[in-house]
Amino acid sequence: MKVCLVTGVTLEQGLGFAIALRMYQREYAVYLGGRRGERAVELGLSIDKSGFWVKAHTLDITDDTSVTQFLARVRGEQGKIDALINNAGAGFDAGVHPLDVNFADARQTFETNLFGAWRMTRGSQIGPPI
Ligand SMILES: NC(=O)c1ccc[n+]([C@@H]2O[C@H](COP(=O)([O-])OP(=O)(O)OC[C@H]3O[C@@H](n4cnc5c(N)ncnc54)[C@H](OP(=O)(O)O)[C@@H]3O)[C@@H](O)[C@H]2O)c1
Repeated sequence: MKVCLVTGVTLEQGLGFAIALRMYQREYAVYLGGRRGERAVELGLSIDKSGFWVKAHTLDITDDTSVTQFLARVRGEQGKIDALINNAGAGFDAGVHPLDVNFADARQTFETNLFGAWRMTRGSQIGPPI
């Protein structure tokens, strides 16, 4: 059984939920994460009522401890990670003119979309050898 992680799965209409469902249908064991952990759990159970093949936990990809705990849990249960879908993301500047973007908001966007995805990728050790 291959193991797949999908970040940012707390919205039924979100891309992360659709991807998680597809990976489950392709017979992956799927781990979902999102800051609203209880919502991720509900969505996981809506894919797999048994809660055996799809599991969900609270995950904030901008937080080292949260990422470390999430990945340790997966490795403890599965012993490996085969695929990582860095879906979690944020756009804090939607509809704002580039000259008016608030730097705090921009920084938070980079924390999530760049460093968050990087943190997950590094922690998962997914990628080609260099
Ligand atoms: N839909 C589009 O047209 C479009 C276009 C370009 C790019 N994208 C990107 O594609 C991805 C999915 O799109 P979407 O429209 O489904 O996104 P979305 O509706 O904005 O959902 C993003 C998900 O990311 C989670 N998230 C945000 N910050 C997080 C963090 N620090 N840690 C963990 N999870 C976090 C959110 O859940 P919580 O708040 O509960 O954590 C939410 O479930 C996003 O990265 C988005 O930026 C989408």
